[in-house]
Amino acid sequence: MKNLKGVILAGGLGKRLYPLTKITNKHLLPVYNKPMIYYPIQTLVDAGITDILIVTGGNHAGEFLRLLGNGSEFGLKHINYTYQEGEGGIAHALALAKHFAGGGKVVVILGDNMIEKNIRGYVEKFKKQLSGAKILLKEVEDPARFGVAEVKGNKIISIVEKPKKPKSNYAVTGIYMYDNSVFDIIKTLKPSGRGELEITDVNNDYLRKGKLTFDVLDGWWTDSGTFESLFKANKLIVDREKKGQIIL
Ligand code: DAU
Repeated sequence: MKNLKGVILAGGLGKRLYPLTKITNKHLLPVYNKPMIYYPIQTLVDAGITDILIVTGGNHAGEFLRLLGNGSEFGLKHINYTYQEGEGGIAHALALAKHFAGGGKVVVILGDNMIEKNIRGYVEKFKKQLSGAKILLKEVEDPARFGVAEVKGNKIISIVEKPKKPKSNYAVTGIYMYDNSVFDIIKTLKPSGRGELEITDVNNDYLRKGKLTFDVLDGWWTDSGTFESLFKANKLIVDREKKGQIIL
């Protein structure tokens, strides 16, 4: 079966981390012993995805090329880059991957999302899914910060972006798998209250059409876009590295 392509979204201005992001891009900040962007790249590579596009933006986009080159550190032959003008939202950034996707399916990961384990199993399941999308959920203590899915049995009932009164503890993680119709869906979106094209609106479109599947992610997951979550990400990665060293 054809290998899926991977898209890492690393645009935006990272305003919640100001002044850390005053003179660099959020995804170049350190998380323990590596720049943040290394982790989502490794997540895709570990899942067997080697055809990767990085979408970035802002004033420091050139630094990604200086840092990553063609990805030889990850065993890659090549990395693709593109540039998002402004910060029109996650779905706006994803639209820039249409040409790269070339009519096929994509696995998308937000550049500030970090996980403990391997997503290969979910990716393999999505490869077998004929059409539609798959999202990964994770129970969290502070769901109001995220997209939140209301789940009944094995069905998602609704997804709400940053709800004041979350209907569950299931955050929608920043790992999304889409068939190629995602690019047509994005064209129909209108900016949200925060002026962005929302990935939650994309997921709700698939949900309405009965084409959204999900799994609950195994192992820990965190974003790293706020001071608290960046600090947490550092601690989790340190623990994971130490455990890894003991196992080895
Ligand atoms: O982390 C998971 C959450 O990410 C989901 O639960 C939410 O549904 C989803 O909307 C998103 O929430 P955030 O508000 O935390 O997203 P944020 O604006 O921090 O953007 C996350 C990443 O997306 C960021 O690290 C880079 C990329 N991005 C974001 C924007 C706004 C872009 O590439 N371009 C953009 O314009």
